[in-house]
Amino acid sequence: MCGIVGILGQTPVAPQLIDALRRLEYRGYDSAGVATLEGGHLTRRRAEGKLSQLAARLDRLPLAGKAGIGHTRWATHGAPTEGNAHPHATERVAIVHNGIIENYRELRREVEAEGRLVESDTDTEIVAQLITRRLEDGLTPADAVRVTLPRLQGAFALAVIFEGYDDLMIAARRGSPLAIGRGDREVYLGSDAIALAPFTSSIIYLEDGDWAVLSRAEITIFDEAGNAVERPTVHGVGTSLLVDKGNHRHFMAKEIAEQPEVVGHTLAHYLDFAAARVNLPDDARIDFAALPRLSITACGTAYYAALTAKYWFERLARLPTDVDIASEFRYRDVPLTAGGAALVISQSGETADTLASLRYARQAGQTVGAVVNVHQSTIAREANFIMPTLAGPEIGVASTKAFTCQLAVLASLAVAAGRARGVLTEADEEKLVTALAEVPRLESVAMKLEAEIEALAADISGAGHVLYLGRGTSYPIALEGALKLKEISYIHAEGYAAGELKHGPIALVDADVPVVVIAPYDRIFEKTVSNMQEVAARGGRIILVTDEKGADAAGVTTAGTIVMPEMPATVTPLVYAVPVQLLAYHTAVFMGTDVDQPRNLAKSVTVE
Ligand code: G6P
Repeated sequence: MCGIVGILGQTPVAPQLIDALRRLEYRGYDSAGVATLEGGHLTRRRAEGKLSQLAARLDRLPLAGKAGIGHTRWATHGAPTEGNAHPHATERVAIVHNGIIENYRELRREVEAEGRLVESDTDTEIVAQLITRRLEDGLTPADAVRVTLPRLQGAFALAVIFEGYDDLMIAARRGSPLAIGRGDREVYLGSDAIALAPFTSSIIYLEDGDWAVLSRAEITIFDEAGNAVERPTVHGVGTSLLVDKGNHRHFMAKEIAEQPEVVGHTLAHYLDFAAARVNLPDDARIDFAALPRLSITACGTAYYAALTAKYWFERLARLPTDVDIASEFRYRDVPLTAGGAALVISQSGETADTLASLRYARQAGQTVGAVVNVHQSTIAREANFIMPTLAGPEIGVASTKAFTCQLAVLASLAVAAGRARGVLTEADEEKLVTALAEVPRLESVAMKLEAEIEALAADISGAGHVLYLGRGTSYPIALEGALKLKEISYIHAEGYAAGELKHGPIALVDADVPVVVIAPYDRIFEKTVSNMQEVAARGGRIILVTDEKGADAAGVTTAGTIVMPEMPATVTPLVYAVPVQLLAYHTAVFMGTDVDQPRNLAKSVTVE
């Protein structure tokens, strides 16, 4: 789950490598490194910590090579030290790697038995050693890589440069993504097209199992069986992916603020606002009318979008819906009836467990739809059809706008399912589409509560533990609120179904534990009020997120009440997500944490 780049250029490439790595820091940022070929000789610089450390080192000790590779790391094997940072090198090769070599222990024993000195604790260095051995046997670089690749088990992307070869880079992809960019007498390589955006908008995506021999003049791609293959060049991806923080202090703040716009775009893709009808793209091929059961799989925040969707599919379409965490689903041996349908939800489209769930479902004869934000991702390409979220690049590690866009897609789909199954009438559809059309505006209204929420965040930042409660679709929002808070502020937080409070977590309640209650005034509001009273009776500090009617009817003293605009119950998750995101964001800002790149996390999790 690291980011890799490579450039065969016309001028010294280290500055461009750093620039590209900056765009890949979302994939990991515990250490970084670059290697270039200077007059045919491999030279490298590595540094522990963020990319800025490496950049500072390169300022002091520049590299002059016009061919090079770079890496930003999220440690899997070995601590995030300089010695374990990539590129890993021998006298003959330097290599950067994203992913995991699962059989590395066995391979390490093998190379050590030959008397080779393994300097790091990483799986990557073993690959460098294996290739070196083949070069010493007299093989060409391409042949050395070709015979080494089948020995590696796991999911990975690799880039290799070779001592003595100024115009050669070899790339390989199995499981982890890899894009090649063509420039004017230059060639680029990156974990995604965002990394290459400033250099080129001509991109070739390698297919799973492909490996490629690159020179400035020629790109030769082979498939897993060793056949030379052509892969299409996609034009114009790059420039649309350029990203910056605008006027915001953090990407997360920018992405929260973008929600009215991007949720609006996403809804407009699935709804005909003028006719108040759902208008799914033609390739959304689920026959909801005949469907006995729907299964949805995802990880992290996307899983909470799935949990919300379960309420919608079951209520609006009377469609039994199973929701699973992808890492459980893939090993649970789930019986799936052939001819059924499944959805996977993923912002990045690269999450390893979600991808494995997709493959499992497809093997079991399911039609699989992917709700994805990255349209060229592996999940997007392996699904039977995609339902894109139009959130744009999400850089903050903690997901915000991708989540609400996922909800927008899923709500639209649930309404379509309700119509197809004869549960919703045309008038119901009209009402629901009208309600969804108002979401962007309602989110803007919610954004205006930021100053009040910031004041409450000051209070939360002093807490050791925080509970989040909700019922119905506010339950997944409570879970998401707790996840956001712990991810970026490092305060321990738990989300609970409000009715479950009395079965355990109430034991935690005292005056030091803020309890955030997500409770729009809906048909179960009164039930949630009872749970709030249980908290109040034990001296708990309640922060209530509700609307005007709810605030009037709550009848409990709160430490703070955030009064949201009124809205139809179905759309509350899309709007109530905003205050919980803002609460977590401002708490983290108070705590002084690294909001966009919280410790130990990564944006795209391509390991199990
Ligand atoms: C990581 C991210 C989360 C994200 C999850 C699933 O844990 O930090 O924000 O929700 O992965 O990612 P996906 O790209 O599949 O939505």
